[in-house]
Amino acid sequence: MPVPKAELHLHIEGTLEPELAFALAARNGVTLPHADTAALREAYRFSDLQSFLDLYYRLMAVLRTAEDFTELADAYLERAAAQGVRHAEVFFDPQAHTARGVPLGTVVEGLSASLDRAEERYGVSTRLIMCFLRDEPVESAMATLEAAKPYLDRITGIGLDSAEVDHPPAAFRAVYEEAARLGLRRVAHAGEEGPAAYVREALDVLGVERIDHGLRCVEDPELVERLARERVPLTLCPLSNVRLRVVDALADHPLPLMMDAGLLVTVNSDDPAYFGGYAGDNFDGVQQALGLTEDQLRELARNSFRAAFLEDDEPRRARYLAEVEAYAFGTE
Ligand code: ADE
Ligand code: ZN
Repeated sequence: MPVPKAELHLHIEGTLEPELAFALAARNGVTLPHADTAALREAYRFSDLQSFLDLYYRLMAVLRTAEDFTELADAYLERAAAQGVRHAEVFFDPQAHTARGVPLGTVVEGLSASLDRAEERYGVSTRLIMCFLRDEPVESAMATLEAAKPYLDRITGIGLDSAEVDHPPAAFRAVYEEAARLGLRRVAHAGEEGPAAYVREALDVLGVERIDHGLRCVEDPELVERLARERVPLTLCPLSNVRLRVVDALADHPLPLMMDAGLLVTVNSDDPAYFGGYAGDNFDGVQQALGLTEDQLRELARNSFRAAFLEDDEPRRARYLAEVEAYAFGTE
């Protein structure tokens, strides 16, 4: 069994494998622009974040009913569990569904039906995080937060994703203030394609508790020092960074440098169906390409549980951390 870990940066829509996409398309009478799964896989050559997002939003057309979302999440949780994931904090993009006429309640209820039984079925505890699309107007994000109020017992926090460049975090200040007032946890994508300044802004203006990606912080030594001092978790996604050309190759990933700088980094899969691997594949990838030691891999696993939103269940966090300590590498 792979090392126990938490997955903290995972877009559930990004777990839509080609086979499930075609099965749902057939069931829902949706026509996909690709002839078959092989042709679809051929399209998984991205030049940047936007080229990926164009396909990602397009394929979501197959997700229509609550059962579709339940099936999607079940498939992810089964795969994640097989790769050692013990706790998953799952992102979803409500606006990408409501814009297509799929009600927010359908999405939340569909996902919850899977997440609520994930522990008993797959041995995975879960949280749900609702992300806002930063390339849509702030009014749309605010309306989405308002619409989510009946479902807040099932939503742990909010995030910010989609096209980053020219969409700085500060525009969403009022949404994050309202989310804080509602007791929601706050994260945001920053410093993936956008500059290090967006990481600073997400911390200072949005009050986020974790940064998703954040790898461009390495361009700003003062920011690195602050992130290390304040123990701000950065949810890195190495295979995603290669596929979206944020780094040239896994061997060039700044992960070891970031660990050496004392940053609290975690390893995650982002959109595993599109980027060539789930959480364990990302661990394997960085281990091989960057020559990480067992100590470093164990530290990454510890970090994932340290950074998890488990403040309401500290005994569980302690159990997971004990599993990491007891894990024997070389027995996978
Ligand atoms: N939505 C899904 N994956 C994303 C990523 N890597 N960056 C920004 N938005 C996303
Ligand atoms: Zn992401």
